[in-house]
Amino acid sequence: MLKSLKLTNVGPAPKLELNLADRLNLLTGDNGLGKSFLLDVVWWVLTRKWPHDLNDNLTSGYPARPADPKSKASIAFDLTTAKATSVSYESTYSNHDQAWVGRPGRPWNPGLVVYAHADGGFSVWDPARNYWKKKGGMDIQESLPGYVFSPKNVWDGLDAEIGGKTTRVCNGLLADWAAWIRERGDTAARMEKVLARLAPTGEAFEVGPLVRLSVNDARDIPSIHMPYADAVPILHAASGVRRVVGLAYMLLWSWNEHVRASELLAQQPTTTVVLLFDELESHLHPRWQRTILRSMLHIAEELHSKAEIQLIAATHSPLILASAEPVFDANRDAWFDIDLERKKVVLRSRQFVSRGEVSNWLTSDAFDLSQARSKEAEDAIEQALAVLRDPNPTRRAVEDADAGLRNACLPDIDPFWVRWGHYVETKLPKKNQSANQAPAPARKKKGPSK
Ligand SMILES: Nc1ncnc2c1ncn2[C@@H]1O[C@H](COP(=O)(O)OP(=O)(O)OP(=O)(O)O)[C@@H](O)[C@H]1O
Ligand SMILES: [Mg+2]
Repeated sequence: MLKSLKLTNVGPAPKLELNLADRLNLLTGDNGLGKSFLLDVVWWVLTRKWPHDLNDNLTSGYPARPADPKSKASIAFDLTTAKATSVSYESTYSNHDQAWVGRPGRPWNPGLVVYAHADGGFSVWDPARNYWKKKGGMDIQESLPGYVFSPKNVWDGLDAEIGGKTTRVCNGLLADWAAWIRERGDTAARMEKVLARLAPTGEAFEVGPLVRLSVNDARDIPSIHMPYADAVPILHAASGVRRVVGLAYMLLWSWNEHVRASELLAQQPTTTVVLLFDELESHLHPRWQRTILRSMLHIAEELHSKAEIQLIAATHSPLILASAEPVFDANRDAWFDIDLERKKVVLRSRQFVSRGEVSNWLTSDAFDLSQARSKEAEDAIEQALAVLRDPNPTRRAVEDADAGLRNACLPDIDPFWVRWGHYVETKLPKKNQSANQAPAPARKKKGPSK
């Protein structure tokens, strides 16, 4: 479990420091301010490998580079291992080696780490399979360093070089899920349970029979029932469904393989799971966005009765933030927000307060919008507000602002009309508009202007 992280001269911010919470850590910030980068660094801190170094089909997850090669760059962190030992570590960048260097020796065991990338790929680090072994006091470094799946690997399987041989280390969702369904065993039932846990309340997936895509394709493809069609092959399913099925599969695969490997090693499975999630809302309908966070916090219960999850999730979704309101507990959860201030990227720990309507999140520190309206409506309202603030506006200025609001198609139900309608009535009495009703004249027609 990661406790704290401090970056100096690496990534978009000159300095970045955060003290993580034990359970939920939400990460917000504009495009390009370093949310995904930060998750890559967290993955590296926990596993000591950069995702791209383990799978060059990835389009992200490259090793972190110092912003200024002439100054010292460091990544320092504190974590608690799966055996509850505290570790403090600092790594500095060696220009000479073009690598991050630090105290040598066997690193730590942070528990099971699953990283859901924004594009549908996953990285998995399994303490039973990826941790260095010890034999007679010696470190044996022959284990695979981790499993990094491109989106295609998740579905079709992953190979790795082991002892100079290409070895299939994961069969992939299509083959494994089909095999589980054929076996009619416990794993197929658990896959359905995990899917049910991830689905919005009352909308559990109904898994269908194995189907073929075409006469020439010999694969048996799992299917799901949709309200309008039976047995939709999972390869034809919508992006949101595939995102969630991929997540359910990767969680189950990681956990099953970890339990099997632990049995072979005659050791107990871990009870610590660190889950890194980039763009939690990706591809999900708002109804789903409202439930995915709670589902993720409870998913551990489907894996192991004692498993505890530390979730670090980046999001662009006001619905995800709103959905955190009933579950957020300041003693074990935290919210970090990255901003651009005077051309500098800064990360702040924000106090999480409930905001009620989801649109209030859009105008909060999380998303920094001035208004939860269209850009055109926002500009028109700003123009109207400037007129309202002016003690002696010209008639022309009032008319222009009024026309601006109409051209922006501000709807009759918008509360701004109450204030503006009353004002316009006093300033432009000839128009005979009522105070609490949107003025009647026709709006600008939508479509290309002539
Ligand atoms: N390997 C790296 N080494 C150093 N800096 C990096 C590295 N990868 C990304 N960055 C920095 O991070 C920035 C990109 O940030 P990132 O992709 O994490 O943004 P984001 O907040 O996830 O944006 P979005 O919301 O669009 O996904 C780059 O402009 C660069 O400054
Ligand atoms: Mg990103």
